Amino acid sequence: MARALARGWGDPVLCSDTGSGRAAALVEELGGEALDSNLAVAERADLVVLCHKPAGLKPVAGEIAGVAKAVASVLGATPTGALQVVYPGTPVFRLMPNTAVEVRRGVVCYTPARVGELDPALEAEVVALFGRLGTVVPLDEQYLEAATAVMGVGPAYQALLVEAQVDAAVRHGLGHELAARLVIETMSGTAARRAARRPAASPRWSARESAPLFRTRSMRSSARIVSA
Ligand SMILES: NC(=O)c1ccc[n+]([C@@H]2O[C@H](COP(=O)([O-])OP(=O)(O)OC[C@H]3O[C@@H](n4cnc5c(N)ncnc54)[C@H](OP(=O)(O)O)[C@@H]3O)[C@@H](O)[C@H]2O)c1
Repeated sequence: MARALARGWGDPVLCSDTGSGRAAALVEELGGEALDSNLAVAERADLVVLCHKPAGLKPVAGEIAGVAKAVASVLGATPTGALQVVYPGTPVFRLMPNTAVEVRRGVVCYTPARVGELDPALEAEVVALFGRLGTVVPLDEQYLEAATAVMGVGPAYQALLVEAQVDAAVRHGLGHELAARLVIETMSGTAARRAARRPAASPRWSARESAPLFRTRSMRSSARIVSA
């Protein structure tokens, strides 16, 4: 996710890793500096974007809390309250992006601060920063897990659908490149058309337009499994 965010922003980065070399690879691509500790990043950055696994919350905070000027977290299953406990006195922002941020077509759910909790100017800057990566959707935190199940996991789920359709087309004799183009353009056009028709205002639209495949038990139960 760190790489997807950084590629979407397209700016030089200050970053660190646990020694894998991924930070250096990112700097090779985008410019900036791979620093040898999280503390060094926190000392120099105006905003630290946490992109480690949720289990790293306490260890990383142990290194940088009190030094980081502001923290934006994209950690799954890590509520704002948990961030505030380990980063006391530091402005913290909880966001949930999906991988399409890499091409600036992402969805970024954002749980806005309670009134008076954060400096509005700083909050506006953070929202604008993530707004460069796609659509920022403000969302009450109680709905964030459900939203993550569709927009966070969605790209993987939809990629599986693309692969399955491309494979089927290839089995029927189409070249892979052509099949991929047909499927991806179809998905893209369908998304644009669906957005234009404002499906939320027309609940019966999907039933009318959906192919029988999408009404099958297996498709719907797969969606339930993904979001479980
Ligand atoms: N993947 C998604 O689609 C997605 C979507 C939304 C949110 N998220 C959230 O994004 C976070 C990262 O997920 P991911 O899929 O990108 O995982 P990932 O591929 O495993 O990347 C995690 C990165 O964090 C680095 N890291 C781990 N512990 C660190 C530490 N103590 N100090 C410095 N760097 C550390 C790792 O360094 P090394 O390279 O050295 O291992 C690695 O580069 C998770 O909290 C996840 O919930 C992911």
